[in-house]
Amino acid sequence: MKGVILAGGLGTRLQPMTRFLNKHLLPVGPNPMIHYALSKLAESGIDDILLVCGKKSAGLFIDYIGSGREWDVRVSFTVQEEAGGIAHALALAEGFVQPDEKFIVLLGDNLFEDSLADEFARFRQRPEKAHVFLKEVDDPRRFGVPVLDGTRIVRIEEKPEQPQSSYCVTGIYMYDADVFDVIRSIRPSARGELEITDVNNAYAASGMLSYSILRGWWLDAGTHHSLWEASRRMAKGEME
Ligand code: DAU
Repeated sequence: MKGVILAGGLGTRLQPMTRFLNKHLLPVGPNPMIHYALSKLAESGIDDILLVCGKKSAGLFIDYIGSGREWDVRVSFTVQEEAGGIAHALALAEGFVQPDEKFIVLLGDNLFEDSLADEFARFRQRPEKAHVFLKEVDDPRRFGVPVLDGTRIVRIEEKPEQPQSSYCVTGIYMYDADVFDVIRSIRPSARGELEITDVNNAYAASGMLSYSILRGWWLDAGTHHSLWEASRRMAKGEME
């Protein structure tokens, strides 16, 4: 079973360290951040992983991860030449996934407690083509925020001034291989990026987006404060 970890981007909110080091190699507790995404996929039964990183620090990822043997998975690497957005990075996984295959995508800065194994098994049985995980947060304006109607996501608003719910869409996604056609159909946003929220909105519009809510803790370690919080949790050994 396959998974993709997106670890490109500029890490602007974690400067100055990210001026010379990719964000996902910064320490979180005893390990570099990327360790946790690998562990989480391995724990969820994923054994074939594609890691997308930027040019900066690309060699260091290979130094740390190698073949993936430490996690009992196979890891391959690809480089996103410029930070063109999350969907732009995901497009590089076309060819890694078989035409009829469902797979997991993790943003490398998302750290969380829940196992994905059961939800991935359910998703593989269901007709929906995309699945997102929501989490209630104090500050939804920092994230993609779902507009909910009962059991359905009507649409997702990216970093809205006035959030329509107290949930955020986390950086944990499940898709089938049609996602690469969907990415080809979207256009760059005002900030010049191919947005994963536009991809998910295409699925919401066609009734093909399902969701579940994370039960355990979840963090986006992309800011100094949340990175500190992530380190605090990992130092307590909350996830190996
Ligand atoms: O963490 C959850 C949030 O992640 C979602 O709620 C948002 O809807 C989603 O857009 C995203 O928001 P961020 O502002 O946190 O995205 P950021 O630009 O920080 O990128 C998150 C990860 O995506 C980062 O760890 C690496 C990867 N990435 C990002 C960009 C822009 C890439 O691999 N390539 C890229 O070009």
